[in-house]
Amino acid sequence: MNLRRAAWVSSTLATCLVGAAHAGPKVWVSVGEDAYRLLRRAGADIEQVELHTLPVQAPAAEGSSKLVRRDESVYLMRVDSDALPRLSQDVHQRLNRCAGYVMHASRAQGRQELSGFRAALLRQETAGKVNYEIDNQAEVNALLPQLQESNVRSTIVQLSTDYKNRYYATHYGVNASDDLVKTWKALAAGRADVTVKQFSHNWPQKSVIMTIKGTTSPKQIVVIGGHLDSTIGNTQEESIAPGADDDASGIASLTEVARVLLSSGYQPRRTIQFMAYAAEEIGLFGSAAIAADYKAKGKKVIGALQLDMTNYQGGTSDYTMITDYTNAAQNTFVKNLAAYYTPSMVVNQGACGYACSDHASWTRNGYVASFPFESLLSQDNPYIHTPQDTIDKSGNNANHAIKFSRLALAFAVELGSDGPALLTK
Ligand code: BES
Ligand code: ZN
Repeated sequence: MNLRRAAWVSSTLATCLVGAAHAGPKVWVSVGEDAYRLLRRAGADIEQVELHTLPVQAPAAEGSSKLVRRDESVYLMRVDSDALPRLSQDVHQRLNRCAGYVMHASRAQGRQELSGFRAALLRQETAGKVNYEIDNQAEVNALLPQLQESNVRSTIVQLSTDYKNRYYATHYGVNASDDLVKTWKALAAGRADVTVKQFSHNWPQKSVIMTIKGTTSPKQIVVIGGHLDSTIGNTQEESIAPGADDDASGIASLTEVARVLLSSGYQPRRTIQFMAYAAEEIGLFGSAAIAADYKAKGKKVIGALQLDMTNYQGGTSDYTMITDYTNAAQNTFVKNLAAYYTPSMVVNQGACGYACSDHASWTRNGYVASFPFESLLSQDNPYIHTPQDTIDKSGNNANHAIKFSRLALAFAVELGSDGPALLTK
């Protein structure tokens, strides 16, 4: 652990989410191997432990290009809820990450969620009917130069300064969603094939979905998403949670892609959907609701790309492909897109170690997802989840976030331009 990181850990410890209020003294949770050891060491009151395994892919070491497939142990158990804040603290301090555990309503639910997750991950390994050829160079190359850093920058500034926070439960968070609808509708003006709609949840903030209807294969959907909400941990109505990097940057990167696709008159063969998820910061809630709804309706999502944190380049790495809870074949495609369209970019890979963003909601529901991240995980933005997550930490520009617009535009057009004829069986 370096010094900068050590200072951050002690000053922002309180900003990790430590779970919702607990109903009773004993709760059902699942935790990974390392967190389980910490719980044991802390002498927590643990009952009815059962071991499950999840097949995950992770690099052999951080930055390594070698991928190793391993069965990750997950312990489902009943534990004293008093032990949970302590667990989050230990996970944060010793393992240098947030989210030490996942809560379940009951043992049965925990089992069901874990086995559903396992099945979805196994299906990922056999997926791969999609054509990942790079074969739409003419369209992509015509569109790439139209992306403008100044637009990405101004969207980040707007989202991070127009509201005190974009928390899922505050009126600011609600307004941010309502305003984004207006912004996206303005981009879609004059396009009869485009709709902008809110997706309502059973909490105040709504997700926002822009749909560009496919010309020949409208039922096949390509998703590009990020989360609209922000947090500082224990966020209150008037808390200052600018979330410039986490994740105004992702919304700004994808909004610029939408602007260029729409203003250029580009029409995809497949449907392209841009999504601004509500309530990611409290447990991927918005994306989970949408992905579950799509699954229930049998919607065919060809692939999802997650943009969460795109504007803070902590080192020389431009993109880190997140290898866990994502699809290996599509990840390779995204890496190939970077190599082809942005050859000077440095691409690494790394594993979050837990379901760290909305890509996991798609994966959980059996869909294919990828998550290119802004830096090495060990060099990530130390200001997220604090009132200091502002654009000045990225030099008051969007030079890094615009790279993610390029990658996402290439993804949208290379997948969006394909139709059923190009599906290989
Ligand atoms: N953007 C973060 C995830 C992240 C942070 C990924 C740093 C890689 C490096 C996301 O908004 C977040 O905060 N996720 C939560 C977990 C979620 C299930 C609430 C987290 O990491 O604690
Ligand atoms: Zn976050």
